[in-house]
Amino acid sequence: MATPIMNVMIGAVRKAARSLQRDYGELSNLQVSQKAPGDYVTAADKKCDKILREELQKARPDYTFLTEESGAIKGSDPDHRFIIDPIDGTMNFMHAVPVFAITVALERKNEIVAGVTYNPISDEMFTAEKGSGAFMNNRRLRVAARRELHEALVAYEIPNRGSKDLPLSRAEIGVLQARVNGIRGMGSVALGLGYLAAGRVDALVCRNIQSWDIAAGVLLVREAGGFTADCDSEANPLETGNIAGGNADLLPLLKQALKDARTA
Ligand code: IPD
Ligand code: CA
Repeated sequence: MATPIMNVMIGAVRKAARSLQRDYGELSNLQVSQKAPGDYVTAADKKCDKILREELQKARPDYTFLTEESGAIKGSDPDHRFIIDPIDGTMNFMHAVPVFAITVALERKNEIVAGVTYNPISDEMFTAEKGSGAFMNNRRLRVAARRELHEALVAYEIPNRGSKDLPLSRAEIGVLQARVNGIRGMGSVALGLGYLAAGRVDALVCRNIQSWDIAAGVLLVREAGGFTADCDSEANPLETGNIAGGNADLLPLLKQALKDARTA
């Protein structure tokens, strides 16, 4: 049984998804602008952002918002904040690669307590509430149990043109290729975290990311029995934007591999 807030979040996401599905079917008509080299925003991102804000505001008029396309919107209740990315994986979306998601998290007093990540093309709805487990389309999720790096399939987000992380990512991929079973660049870290929660991938690395890309996913992984951490330190990845994830055995091995790449 979904709680009232989860019903509100899922309802908003489903409504926004219908707009996104229509735009996905007519990509050639889509307006695209470039925020920075390799960083795009489409008219679909903005439309989806607006629908999410309107639907969530209707149900929770006092809450504060942080969205990728609208920035910070102050509400009269500073303790509750929706953190939204209307499309995580915009480049995939623009190229008709069906790996992108709407992702919405609810933060209460600086703690993520609910998260929804939805791929509107595969119709996969990842949901989690603090203390209640993680689910995909109502099926309970559990991170994979593989304990050795050489068995692991790792989602590594490959930075786009213009990123300051290009040399570091090459070094990290180089080290990982020698130690892990395989590497995939998903193009949507929000879905990558959903896949980690679902045990489809065993570990994940993504650098230089914003809190709206990973807020829901961090909770999904935790509620599926996994862990996330900053790539390089004990800091909070929601603050540093550098995230590594896996089960209790794999995460330390992954972080060691990243350290070896940094110091090589
Ligand atoms: C992108 C995705 C992707 C990551 C890129 C981000 P956006 O976010 O999170 O996984 O590798 O660096 O820009 O722009 O599609 O919301
Ligand atoms: Ca986005």
